[in-house]
Amino acid sequence: MLAGEEGEVVERMFRLLVRLGDIYGADRMIPVGSVQVAGVSYKSIGDPGLEFLEDIAAKGAKVRVITTLNPPGMDLVDWKELGFPEDFAEKQLRIMDAFKQMGVMMTATCTPYLVGNLPRFGEHIAWSESSAVSFANSVIGARTNREGGPSALAAAFCGLTPNYGLHLDENRKPNFLFEVNAELKGNSDFGALGYHVGKIVKDKVPYFRGIKNADVDQLKALGAAMAASGAVALYHVEGITPEAGLMDTSGLERIEVGDRELREAYAKLNTGTSPDIVILGCPHASLKEIATLACKLEGKRLRKPLWICTSRVTKEAATRMGLTGIIEGAGGKVVADTCTVVSPIERMGYRVTGVDSGKAANYLPGFCKQQVVFKSLDDLLEGQIT
Ligand code: F3S
Repeated sequence: MLAGEEGEVVERMFRLLVRLGDIYGADRMIPVGSVQVAGVSYKSIGDPGLEFLEDIAAKGAKVRVITTLNPPGMDLVDWKELGFPEDFAEKQLRIMDAFKQMGVMMTATCTPYLVGNLPRFGEHIAWSESSAVSFANSVIGARTNREGGPSALAAAFCGLTPNYGLHLDENRKPNFLFEVNAELKGNSDFGALGYHVGKIVKDKVPYFRGIKNADVDQLKALGAAMAASGAVALYHVEGITPEAGLMDTSGLERIEVGDRELREAYAKLNTGTSPDIVILGCPHASLKEIATLACKLEGKRLRKPLWICTSRVTKEAATRMGLTGIIEGAGGKVVADTCTVVSPIERMGYRVTGVDSGKAANYLPGFCKQQVVFKSLDDLLEGQIT
């Protein structure tokens, strides 16, 4: 690869991996089972990113392992109807075309593990998208560093990644023990907990004790929030995540989290009062989350716009089940491909957004100039439905 025998793109990409490996003291390259590429939205990468991707695509380079794609900045089918700007759409579609030419799977979701890119326990992968990285490491027990867009793409073209960081056993051990003394009810409580803990641990590994139960959606909400307020790429939950039982927690710094800390997290994240729009599905909604929303909206009418963001694959299933029809019948939208943070909602006239996601609440003020109403799903819907 370094000698350029596999083409110019592979050579350039391999050099990048070698540099990364040198910086972090990797002993060798290891094969990866799959890649998740972030940096897909035109809003995030702009013209320089678009030109970079078109240049690679034009050279005919193809990815050599399963490679899936993060959300772009718009619904790739219904963008016009949803009011996405034409100039934005034109550039976004060119980005998608470039990825398609490289052989990337056009999943367009931050939950690749729900749509066919599901690594196994212990598998080495190279994923970017912090919430997906957190889920893969923590809930599945696969092994990935928090890749950036370019290093993930390099791993996709070479099928390799440098062996350092979370690929190694010693770096998967916890650094803090959090004793949770609060009843966590829905995604927003898990998001508030994640926001609080991420701020404390930054890029270290927290171990949770006292979380009695958590479903997959709540774990994805927890990990996404910690990855946003800190840079957490791996966490363990006693009795729930697969590596927790293998960890020694003796001697760890112990920190208690109770109702007071959760209330403080809600208070910090709430910067608005009355949302112009409610946007759910950060990380992208599962079929179960869409079904839950449909159940609450059946036969009702929404007073304000509401989107639930998900992957195209999940939306297709929801549509077949009649769930999209119920949500849209109430005046909401099942928005596929994109999400609240990477879409240009500030250009679409929205100023105050309601969310139940700790990650979205953390990013919306900076990325989308939004005031935020951060509440549970039921609280967001209260007063919004007739
Ligand atoms: Fe996914 Fe967008 Fe949230 S990429 S995790 S829905 S900010």
